[in-house]
Amino acid sequence: MSDLDKFEKRILITGGAGFIGSNLLHYMLIKYPRYLFVNLDKLTYAGNLSNLQDVEMKENYIFARGDIADRDLVSELFQVYQFDGLINLAAETHVDRSILGSGRFINTNIIGTHNLLEISRKHNHFGQEFRFHQVSTDEVFGSLGDTGKFSEKSCYAPNSPYAASKASADHFVRAYHKSFGLNVVTSNCSNNYGPYQFPEKIIPLMINNALHHQPLPVYGDGGNIRDWLYVADHCKAIDIVFHKGRTGKTYNIGADKEIRNIDLVRMICRIMDDLTGEGGHEKLIKFVEDRPGHDRRYAMDYSLIREELGWRPEHDFEQGLKKTVQWYLDNPEWMENCISGEYKTYYNTWYKKRLEEK
Ligand SMILES: NC(=O)c1ccc[n+]([C@@H]2O[C@H](COP(=O)([O-])OP(=O)(O)OC[C@H]3O[C@@H](n4cnc5c(N)ncnc54)[C@H](O)[C@@H]3O)[C@@H](O)[C@H]2O)c1
Repeated sequence: MSDLDKFEKRILITGGAGFIGSNLLHYMLIKYPRYLFVNLDKLTYAGNLSNLQDVEMKENYIFARGDIADRDLVSELFQVYQFDGLINLAAETHVDRSILGSGRFINTNIIGTHNLLEISRKHNHFGQEFRFHQVSTDEVFGSLGDTGKFSEKSCYAPNSPYAASKASADHFVRAYHKSFGLNVVTSNCSNNYGPYQFPEKIIPLMINNALHHQPLPVYGDGGNIRDWLYVADHCKAIDIVFHKGRTGKTYNIGADKEIRNIDLVRMICRIMDDLTGEGGHEKLIKFVEDRPGHDRRYAMDYSLIREELGWRPEHDFEQGLKKTVQWYLDNPEWMENCISGEYKTYYNTWYKKRLEEK
């Protein structure tokens, strides 16, 4: 019996050093001690091994640094570990960066996913019941008007290069099921918040700027609406979809928690006032020129996953947000680590320019 045989399943998680990936690994490593999890991550600016410090010594965890688009590396991992399934979270994820340049988004989100599909398809020929789970976003559906929600039947209509790259990858996932019978499942989730999110995304960005008395840049009139889900709820949904989702299906994941950006930022300011004992954070809010192609509203109808798989969000938004702000305040070194280096240059060239424009 090889060392690998002692594991009930061997799962490849890609992008496990990022925000959702590291939260997912924390959850899965505890819940499934008899599974082996191999985390393949390129460690881009958004990947951070310190997110996994408290689980990295676990016996059922292995880290491999590399690119999902690297055919030789991914093939070798499949040969060595004989995976039973894969959960693909690796991606370039920041919309603003995709507007500045979309090359990396195409390489990772489309070509990388295609590479994983190709290797999974060949691996599948060894007769294993291999599952491919694509983790995707509500942004592939484009923008909603004042009413209605996206369902699994909504048409894809991506508006940013990020959304277009994720949409393209999702189409390849679907095609590999239809054309080759690959056992795929896709989940499309709304905006996540929680610990370990890279501070270019709205919630940690605002917390960090507020902490340093820097302007809080709000795009346009601040009326853009997002449906916010606590990351631990998303991780539970991924677990359920991966294990129980029907082959070839897609599942929407949402929170029923629609909030305008400006209201979200005001809430963060109030929580910061409370937690730091320093008032007046709202005065730092600064409206800046809108993001090009900025989707107005997202909202997810998640009745399919609720009715078929029994999942529903568990976290209350106000409490989850407070817990999240507290986490960033408790982890200043983590934050400092993220915002030094490459991010500093990005922040200076992008956000500072935006602040000056208005
Ligand atoms: N954050 C959200 O609100 C949200 C919502 C819905 C869906 N998603 C999807 O969930 C997934 C994870 O999102 P996130 O917010 O954790 O992203 P993130 O940017 O925090 O992390 C992405 C991770 O992928 C890694 N990575 C990037 N390119 C890679 C490559 N070529 N090969 C291997 N690893 C690579 C990075 O190093 C990083 O660790 C993405 O696919 C994203 O589209 C995110």
